[in-house]
Amino acid sequence: MASRTSTTIPVASRISGFVYAIRNIVAEARKVEASGRKVRYLNIGDPIIFGFQTPPHLVDAVARAIRDGHNGYAPSVGIPAARGAVAAECVRRGMPLDADRVVITAGTSEGIELALTALAEAGDEVLVPVPTYPLYTAVLAKIGARPVFYDTNPAGGWVPDVEAIRRQITPATRALVVIDPNNPTGATYPTDVRRGLLALADEYNIPLLADEVYADLAFDGPVEAIAKLNPDAPVITFSSLSKAYLAPGWRSGWLAVGRTERLDDVLAAIKKLADGRLCSNAPMEYAIVAALDGDRSHQQLFRDDLRERSALTVERLNAIDGISVVPPAAAFYAMPKVELPPGTTDADYVLALLRATGVLCVYGSGFGTKPEDGFFRVVFLASPAELSEIYGLIAEFTADYLCRR
Ligand SMILES: Cc1ncc(COP(=O)(O)O)c(C=O)c1O
Repeated sequence: MASRTSTTIPVASRISGFVYAIRNIVAEARKVEASGRKVRYLNIGDPIIFGFQTPPHLVDAVARAIRDGHNGYAPSVGIPAARGAVAAECVRRGMPLDADRVVITAGTSEGIELALTALAEAGDEVLVPVPTYPLYTAVLAKIGARPVFYDTNPAGGWVPDVEAIRRQITPATRALVVIDPNNPTGATYPTDVRRGLLALADEYNIPLLADEVYADLAFDGPVEAIAKLNPDAPVITFSSLSKAYLAPGWRSGWLAVGRTERLDDVLAAIKKLADGRLCSNAPMEYAIVAALDGDRSHQQLFRDDLRERSALTVERLNAIDGISVVPPAAAFYAMPKVELPPGTTDADYVLALLRATGVLCVYGSGFGTKPEDGFFRVVFLASPAELSEIYGLIAEFTADYLCRR
């Protein structure tokens, strides 16, 4: 038989739809770094790389769990203490449910993947915001389901239009993704909009997937669970230790399925899928208990830091001719718009910015906005002094970029 060792081994065609710009763009940054230029990585929402620290009582809880020998597989749904702590947190946030409806996951990411896999068949539709956190579209590509994008409008503070979403619902709609507080825009949604979104879920019997990973990081204090407005609507909430508890590398999070019986089969399906991956990172499950039952004073300090960085971001970016940004109300992201010269794209601008200054942002089209609309996402976790320098570089570059065209 002829040797086939030189033939490239093919990959599954669905991989072409799996796009995650936040990391994909790093390849370009590495090239710039190789040329000797310092790169400022404003592409990824990881507070640890900017000097924020995991609270010591969480570190102790994990270290203790490891020393105490909790190094075997945990139950696939998570250890009872962590599930109990999550259920109690849901109750506090206004989403009453039992610990039996909680699954401990490898970050919010795994929760999202489990829920979408449990809900959507190939060809089904899932309502996803634009701009979106790109994991949603990536997972849908993997499943073969179709994202149906609903707009959020910068002129209205990046808030969705509930009636427009209603018109996008079809018999194939299997879920409504709501990211509030939002990445990449930093928006939080007003109560009437949250109520409207819940009403859609309730009326059309479509699970609302509530990505609440930034709920504790609204600058004015924690945001309540969306399900509080109607605890009997079909809602699945997701969160983790990654952001508000400053432990993204631990891959430790949870999902909680609303109390309505309408979601019982979905809960069973999620648990079945969870069995297949054995468990989440077991020692880190002990940190979930420490986080949710313990001291949260770090969060107030973190929110204060974020508010200051957000204000600086808005002031400095809005002062640049050709750039405008909606003030964020939460998290560590802003989504400025640059008035692009005709014929250019957001990626052209972002890559030119990277090559000229070493500042790495992510182009808006990586989050689903139109390439010609000129959005890009900034992560504002760096120190105010460094951010100030970065915005100086962006200002200088943009003036040059816009007048050269
Ligand atoms: C909106 C949103 N959802 C989910 C995630 C994933 O977070 P985790 O680290 O909990 O998997 C992120 C991470 O940036 C995010 O911004």
